[in-house]
Amino acid sequence: MCGIVGYLGSRDPKDIIIEGLSKLEYRGYDSAGVAIFNENQLVRVRAEGKLSQLKQKIQDLNLTFTGPSGIGHTRWATHGRPSEHNAHPHSSGPIMLVHNGIIENYLELKKELMGKGYQFESDTDSEVVAHLINDRWKQYGNLLTAIKKVLPELKGAFSIVVLNQENPNELVAFKDGPPLILGLGQNEYFLVSDVAASLAYTSRYIYLDDREIVRVTPEGYAVFSESGVRLSKTVTEVAWSADQVEKRGFRHYMLKEIYEQARSVAHCLEPFLDREQFRLKPMMEWSSVEGVHIVACGTSFYAGIYGQYLMEILGGIPCRVDVASEFRYRDPVLSPGTLVLAISQSGETADTLGAVRLAKAQGSPVVSICNVKQSSLDRESDVTFYMNCGPEIGVASTKAFTATLVLLNLLAMDLARYRKRLNADLEFQMLRRLLELPSQIEVVLAYDKYFQDAADALKRYRGFLFLGRHVLYPIAMEGALKLKELSYLHAEGYPAGEMKHGPLALIDEQMAVVVLAPQDDLYEKTLSNLQEVKARGAKVIAVGTLEDEQLKSLSDRYLSIPKVPWNINPILAVIPLQLMAYHLACSLGHDVDQPRNLAKSVTVE
Ligand code: G6P
Repeated sequence: MCGIVGYLGSRDPKDIIIEGLSKLEYRGYDSAGVAIFNENQLVRVRAEGKLSQLKQKIQDLNLTFTGPSGIGHTRWATHGRPSEHNAHPHSSGPIMLVHNGIIENYLELKKELMGKGYQFESDTDSEVVAHLINDRWKQYGNLLTAIKKVLPELKGAFSIVVLNQENPNELVAFKDGPPLILGLGQNEYFLVSDVAASLAYTSRYIYLDDREIVRVTPEGYAVFSESGVRLSKTVTEVAWSADQVEKRGFRHYMLKEIYEQARSVAHCLEPFLDREQFRLKPMMEWSSVEGVHIVACGTSFYAGIYGQYLMEILGGIPCRVDVASEFRYRDPVLSPGTLVLAISQSGETADTLGAVRLAKAQGSPVVSICNVKQSSLDRESDVTFYMNCGPEIGVASTKAFTATLVLLNLLAMDLARYRKRLNADLEFQMLRRLLELPSQIEVVLAYDKYFQDAADALKRYRGFLFLGRHVLYPIAMEGALKLKELSYLHAEGYPAGEMKHGPLALIDEQMAVVVLAPQDDLYEKTLSNLQEVKARGAKVIAVGTLEDEQLKSLSDRYLSIPKVPWNINPILAVIPLQLMAYHLACSLGHDVDQPRNLAKSVTVE
């Protein structure tokens, strides 16, 4: 939610900041703005809408910026509607800042500041911080001191970069919650929400912890604790390359990421394979684990439901799954021996982090599945298993989902082996099947033309039901989520057996039903459910195994996946659903990488 970039150095700050914002636009695209020095004057430009509007405005105004510093922001609106006057940077006197997050006590602070005569020009919570810093700056005459005074007064989640009109050679930033990362270049510094914004310039980063403050000047950087103690921070070398955050010839990031899945699944598997013995390397210590509780949001939550089946079927221990935002506010009871497994691509989702903190406070060990190394979740977990699938930029998650399903297989196998439920032969067979996945994904991707045709045929429907049983039930929900977030059409994922308990009433000629019916132990039952919807006049699109003539004869459109075991079916079956959602949204003229009202990294509750 919101992307921020701060720059101090000798390059053209406008280019660096705009380029950085373009890599962060996935975090919000309601408005964008910059404040950059030009000959000791801080110039602010803001525009409602996407970054392209801001770029156009800067071009039309024929503005030049000489630097040496500047800040930029791309917004996902929380307080105050998307508009230019609510766009960042916000200012007060010489202070200009960009903010990602929410200031929970902003009304209280606003009242106090208004009492002192400060005038507000926006409806945002962020502007309060600008006035507060200005107020303390007037008192102490030093930006760092002013911020040290302000930090204890702020409640909520924030990551903020501040510039002072009086001193172009200084940037001060601080955070509590959303990510803030300091990139170290050659005599230049980047303050960013995500390394993607500055990978083209540096691979060396410092990840700030909560309630830390960083000050950068041409002479160097210094990180302080809230109480003012100078801290020594570890510099991390980030392995991702700038090239990985480009589209590489694909029309959209989402399409590129769907097509990367054969490779990303292979990368995800590799670190856990003992190729000499052809065995799974030991992953974790299970001796004290009596149950697993999975917490996650969005697509990661659906992956979690799939994980629940595996943990119970293979591992033989109880497993529950919760949407993190529900878990954290319902006084969950975690019995001793419960391992909390958090799933998050970004590792920055506020609710997932909230759930993890609650679990830790109750004494539960926390293991996570995460894509972004050094993210908050990674740093706060006892153990992290990395998706290893490279940066995911498209707002709708795809390759992180399939990588997570693979990791959940490995974890469940590791547990099953520890509990003596997985003999060497079964382990060998399961690993072999997982190793075959990349080539089978390639086979499914080769049918993209058929998925595009199917999507074309879906254009005339106003509602969609996705049906699946067992491990395909979470895939039905994921398919519906992909379709609704990209096409803005109503879609629901349902367990196929539940149709007669309500959803059958929805069926009419405007409703299409996508049935996931690859061959597995429940195939016949799913087929009966398909007959029930068909008998009521629904248009049926079926996903099945190879050339399944019986299923074909019952469907209006048939999409095929290779023959694989039950636990692998979901990893292949989701791909036609991702591609159908993608093509449908494209043909409706929607921006698939930046669906309306959404953001990729949800760093506020
Ligand atoms: C947002 C994204 C989804 C993602 C969810 C959880 O809603 O749009 O694609 O699944 O957040 O994100 P996480 O990074 O925690 O997996």
